[in-house]
Amino acid sequence: MPKPQGPALSDATRGRLLFGGDYNPEQWPEEVWHEDVRLMKDAGVNSVTLGVFSWSRLEPEPGAREFGWLDRLMDLMHDSGIGVVLATPTSSPPPWMGRLHPDTLPVTEDGRTEWWGGRQHFSHSSATYRRYAAAITEDLAARYGGHPGLTMWHINNEYCTFDHGDEAAASFRRWLRERYGTLDALNEAWGTAFWSQGYDTWDGILPARQPHYMRNPSQVLDFRRFTSDMLLECFVAERDIVRRHTPHIPVTSNFMPLWFGQDAWRWAGEEDVVSVDLYPDPRDPLGAQDGALVQDMTRSQARGPWMLMEQAAGPVNWRGVNHPKPRGLNRLWSLQAVARGADAVCYFQWRQSRQGAEKFHSGMVSHAGEQGRTYQEVKQLGADLARIAPEVSGRHSTADVAVLHDWHAWWAGAQDGRLSHEVEHADVLRTWHRALWQAHLTTDFAHPEHDLTAYRLVVVPQLYLLTDAAIDNLLAYVRGGGTLVCGFLTGVADQDDRVREGGMDARLRELFGIRTLHEWWPLDPGEGVACEGFRGTLWSEELEADGTADETVAYKGGELDGLPAVLRKGGAWYVSTLPEPDALRDLLARIATGAGVRPVLDGLPEQIEAVRRGELLFVLNHGREPVTVEVPGTHRDLLTGADVTDRVTLGRYDAAILRP
Ligand code: GAL
Repeated sequence: MPKPQGPALSDATRGRLLFGGDYNPEQWPEEVWHEDVRLMKDAGVNSVTLGVFSWSRLEPEPGAREFGWLDRLMDLMHDSGIGVVLATPTSSPPPWMGRLHPDTLPVTEDGRTEWWGGRQHFSHSSATYRRYAAAITEDLAARYGGHPGLTMWHINNEYCTFDHGDEAAASFRRWLRERYGTLDALNEAWGTAFWSQGYDTWDGILPARQPHYMRNPSQVLDFRRFTSDMLLECFVAERDIVRRHTPHIPVTSNFMPLWFGQDAWRWAGEEDVVSVDLYPDPRDPLGAQDGALVQDMTRSQARGPWMLMEQAAGPVNWRGVNHPKPRGLNRLWSLQAVARGADAVCYFQWRQSRQGAEKFHSGMVSHAGEQGRTYQEVKQLGADLARIAPEVSGRHSTADVAVLHDWHAWWAGAQDGRLSHEVEHADVLRTWHRALWQAHLTTDFAHPEHDLTAYRLVVVPQLYLLTDAAIDNLLAYVRGGGTLVCGFLTGVADQDDRVREGGMDARLRELFGIRTLHEWWPLDPGEGVACEGFRGTLWSEELEADGTADETVAYKGGELDGLPAVLRKGGAWYVSTLPEPDALRDLLARIATGAGVRPVLDGLPEQIEAVRRGELLFVLNHGREPVTVEVPGTHRDLLTGADVTDRVTLGRYDAAILRP
C-alpha cells in the first residue's frame, strides 16, 4: 500500500534522526531558555515540540492573543539549529473556557462533569470548544506557517476523551442517522427486541450512559465507534486549517500506545506522520516486548518510518510505583525503536518540571541538572543517533509475518456480558506477539481487510468481530497459498455484534475443518487444560471436527477429552485455547518454519533481540549479563565504527548496528 502523496516525516528529518522532546519553556524564566539551548546543542537535540499545553498562555482571556513569548522561542530555536514541531494547544483549554462555557466540559457515563484543573477537559462535540480550537489554530498557522524553524504540526495531544453529555447525545444521534438511515435499521442492528429497547424516535437514544444493569452491547460498540470518529473530526478540522496555510509541512497527532479509544488504522490514514508515545515499565521483564509491539504497530500504521513522539528518560509518575531506568536502558530502548523503524526519538519532556502534576516525572534534564546521570546518558544517545543517522534514516523494515488487529473487534469483545472477564483482547494480543517476538520473528500488524498477499504467515490472536469483507479476505489469503493461524473467539460476531450462526462463521468452520462448535469452556484464573504436548490456559472450546482436517491436537482428560484443541486444514490453523507461553512460541515457530519464514538469526540467546532495518542488522542485549552473539560474516558496527567478524559481544543493555 503506497502512502498517499503529501508531506512526510522525511520532510522534517531531511536525512537525520530527530532527537528531542516536548519543550515547555513557559514554565521557566527566560534566562533558563538560553541554558536550555546550550544543553540541547551539547546533547545533539535537533527537534523540540512547543506549545502542547500553552493555551492559557496564548489566549489568557477569550479572544486575546499573546504570541510574543512564542515568537522569541521560535526564533531562538531556529537560530540554534533546532527545528520546531509546533502543537495546537487544544487538549487543555484555559480555565476561563469551562467557567464561561460549561458546555465545553465533558460528562462521564454516570453524569459527572469533568472540570478544569487537570487537562483534556473538553467535549469533542461542543460547538463552542470547536470554535475556539479552530480560532487559535488558525492564528497559530497564520503567524508561524512561514517561520523557517517550523518542521511539523502536532495537533492536540493524545486524543482520548469520552463524552456522554447532552451535546454529545445530539451528535451521537446525528452519527447514527448517517450510519443507519432509519430507526428500523438501527433497531435491527442493535437487537432492541431484547429487553424492550425498541426506539420510536431518534431523540430517545442516549450515548451509552450508566444504566441499572448490563448495557446493550451494540449500542456501546457504536458509541465507541462514534467517539473515535468525533475525536477524528476534531483532529481533521485542525489539520485542515494548518494544511491550508502550510501544505508542505507534515501533520501528526500523537497516539497513546495500543489505546482502546481510537481506531488507529482509520486515524493513521488521515495523518502525514504517525507518531506514538511509549512508556514501558523499566521493571517489567517484558517491557522490551511491550515496546516492540507498539513499535511494530506504529510502523505498520505509518507504512514506513514513524516518530517516537514521547518516551521517558527516567521514571514516569503515573504507575503505583515508578521506577527509574537503570543505566543504559534509555539508550537501548531508544535504539530498539530505531531498529523497528523510528526516524525520531523524542521525550516527554526536555526539562523536568519543578511544579505541577508531573514534577516527579523524569525529563531529559532531570532535577539533578547537567551533571545528572539522566542528562549524561541523553547526551550519549544524541551522539549515537547523530552517528548512525545517515545510514538509518528513511530506511524501511519488512516482515514476512502479519498480526491482525482491529479496534472494532476489541470494542465489541469488551462487553459487560461476555463469558469470561479474564479474556482481555489486549492481553491476548500481547501474549501472541510475545510468542513471535521470543521466536525472533519480526512482525508487521495489519487490519483484517488489508491486502495480506505480501505475507507468508498471518496470525490472528483474536478477532471476535469479523466483517464479511474480512472473512472473504482471510479465505482468499489461504486460497492463495498463505498460512493463517487463528486463536480462540475469532469470527464469532458480525459488524453489529450479532453472533454468527453456529457461534463461528460457517465459512471459517469449513476452513478449519470444524463441523460444530458446541460450547465455549472458559477457564478460571490459574486453571489449565491438558492438551497433547502442552497445557492450555484461559479458554477452551468444545469442537467437533468434520473429518477434513489434516492435523489435530486433542484435549486430554476432563470434559473435552479427545476433542480437538488445535486443527490444521491445509494452510489454515485454529487454536481453541491459549497455549502456555513456551508452547505458543514453539507452535508459532513451527508454523512459521512450515510457511518458509525464518527467524532474524538462528540460535539467538533469549535476552537478545535482532531486527533488520533495510540491510542493517540491529542486535540488542536486553539482559544485564554480557552475551556473545553469532553474526556470520564481516560487518561494520555503526555504533563503534569497528569491524565485527562472525560474532559480537554485547555488554549489559548494549547494542550493535551491523552493516554488511
Ligand atoms: C503522555 C502525555 C504527556 C505526559 C506524559 C507523561 O501521555 O502526552 O503530556 O503527560 O504522558 O508520561
